[in-house]
Amino acid sequence: MDTWEKLKQDCAGCMACSLGQTRRHLVFADGFEGAEVMLVGEGPGEQEDKQGLPFVGPAGKLLDQMLEMIDLDRSKVYIANTVKCRPPGNRDPLAVEQEACRGWLDRQIALVDPKIIVCLGRIAAMELIKEDFRITREHGQWFQVGGRRVIATYHPSALLRDPTKRPEAFMDLREIRKEIRAICAHTY
Ligand code: URA
Repeated sequence: MDTWEKLKQDCAGCMACSLGQTRRHLVFADGFEGAEVMLVGEGPGEQEDKQGLPFVGPAGKLLDQMLEMIDLDRSKVYIANTVKCRPPGNRDPLAVEQEACRGWLDRQIALVDPKIIVCLGRIAAMELIKEDFRITREHGQWFQVGGRRVIATYHPSALLRDPTKRPEAFMDLREIRKEIRAICAHTY
């Protein structure tokens, strides 16, 4: 049986892809391991790589505000990324890097066992929902994946780059809050 202790031990020092050679810190996760809501981002940026925690840079500040809008905070959700190490220059993670890292994410999902997974952006949605996921068309829609409710919204970095997308993201957040209230009512 898998345990958090075993998973963290196995993941620490991972060299399964070349990102292991350039990272400062492996960014495992943040938040509550017993959460019913899990957020999955893309991969660490510069600040995350420096501090070893996900979403602590400018996108993270916006993410905190987004969580607050729907009565959540980091103590109530679990936050991880599709890749645990920073892609140099913040480029998109390569398929080979995502594949090398997928096992860690799968084990995190299995241990948290969330009812709801929120994909932050296209990369996480393509990994967890479907390969041909189109964020502009399919954000805010629910998918059933492995017995869980999975939805994608815009990545906070995309909302920083293009604030005109914020009203759509806000509608997605309201949809997420509605579903949390419907199926996670006992802890939220
Ligand atoms: N962007 C992500 O996708 N993840 C982080 O942890 C930080 C920025």
